[in-house]
Amino acid sequence: MTAIDALIVNRQVKLKPGDTIGILGGGQLGRMLAMAAARLGLRCQVFSPDPDSPAFDVVLNAACAEYADVEALELFANDVDVITYEFENVPAAAALILAARRPVLPNRKILETTQDRLAEKDFVKRLGIGTADYADVSSPATLRAAISRIGLPAVIKTRRFGYDGKGQAMIREGDNTDHIWEELGTKSAILEAFIPFEREISVIAARSASGEVECFDVTENEHRDHILKISRAPAAISDALAAQARDVAGKIATALDYVGVLAVEMFVLVDDTGPKILVNEIAPRVHNSGHWTLDGASISQFEQHIRAIAGWPLGKPVRHGPVTMTNLIGDEILEYEQWLTVPGATVHLYGKGPPRPGRKMGHVTLVEGKRAKTS
Ligand SMILES: Nc1ncnc2c1ncn2[C@@H]1O[C@H](COP(=O)(O)OP(=O)(O)O)[C@@H](O)[C@H]1O
Ligand SMILES: [Mg+2]
Repeated sequence: MTAIDALIVNRQVKLKPGDTIGILGGGQLGRMLAMAAARLGLRCQVFSPDPDSPAFDVVLNAACAEYADVEALELFANDVDVITYEFENVPAAAALILAARRPVLPNRKILETTQDRLAEKDFVKRLGIGTADYADVSSPATLRAAISRIGLPAVIKTRRFGYDGKGQAMIREGDNTDHIWEELGTKSAILEAFIPFEREISVIAARSASGEVECFDVTENEHRDHILKISRAPAAISDALAAQARDVAGKIATALDYVGVLAVEMFVLVDDTGPKILVNEIAPRVHNSGHWTLDGASISQFEQHIRAIAGWPLGKPVRHGPVTMTNLIGDEILEYEQWLTVPGATVHLYGKGPPRPGRKMGHVTLVEGKRAKTS
């Protein structure tokens, strides 16, 4: 055991109604986590540096401070019974300060793997799970070497801080790779073979402290401008492939000794031998492709996460029917009144400020078979 590990509060968490969960991050995911906790009689306190955090609106106590503010982190930790997060880029130093005072779930060590695309891919590969071919790239010369091994087209991605397609670029035959490297503006990246996938899917998995795993039905995801636009559950894949996808997510959760909800994004690639699954990335948190579970299943991903970190039994979610979730991005939020009139639609508005292009402002869920008149 290292000196740091000796400092970590590792006690088993078992919350009671009325106890308080600390959430790092104040976006829509934190907001929906707090709302799910409230239904179970649990309180939340949100820590976020952004005064306009949508999660602040739904909790009594908010801490608005920087993640480097040690005193604010300590006060926050002292006020809560367990700490979780809604985004994967929690600074390591902040996670350590908090973990010395309260249990942090999922474990902060998981962040080291999932914050770095190279460490994440190495981890998945070690489990014997397929990914796109990839290579570590740190200079124009290593990029050229990686291209000669992996071939083109390929995708170059910064190892850290990428989201919604930011921090990545396609490289095609004839492109000026020195120029692409310069534009990427980093010293650490990975090159991935471009996967001509048939479809993109994801699995939202929950794992409890006792090691029980529950996966939601596999979701199929459609991106527009690299941003998730539509999720459908169940994915239009065979039962065998769906079972394989859930198995991959469960294996990853177990290997990470994960407690909480995680999402695994995957490609379905069809080649001569038939369809196969390649893991694209792991999100150590609730995920946009699981928003359909709020209205489309008996238990949502948010509730599953709260149950897991509270030390409560996981739910056995039942899907209510085929579900479609549509993100309202940027100006699309201005049409919310039209969505409110769509029969069977459930509208979620995140209460964010002005719509900016590419900003996720809300979503709408439609469950088939729920369109019958109820009044
Ligand atoms: N190797 C690849 N082959 C084909 N498409 C890819 C590849 N990597 C990423 N993409 C596309 O870009 C999207 C975003 O990439 P991803 O690695 O998930 O980054 P992030 O979601 O963090 O921006 C993916 O959902 C997929 O549509
Ligand atoms: Mg992604």
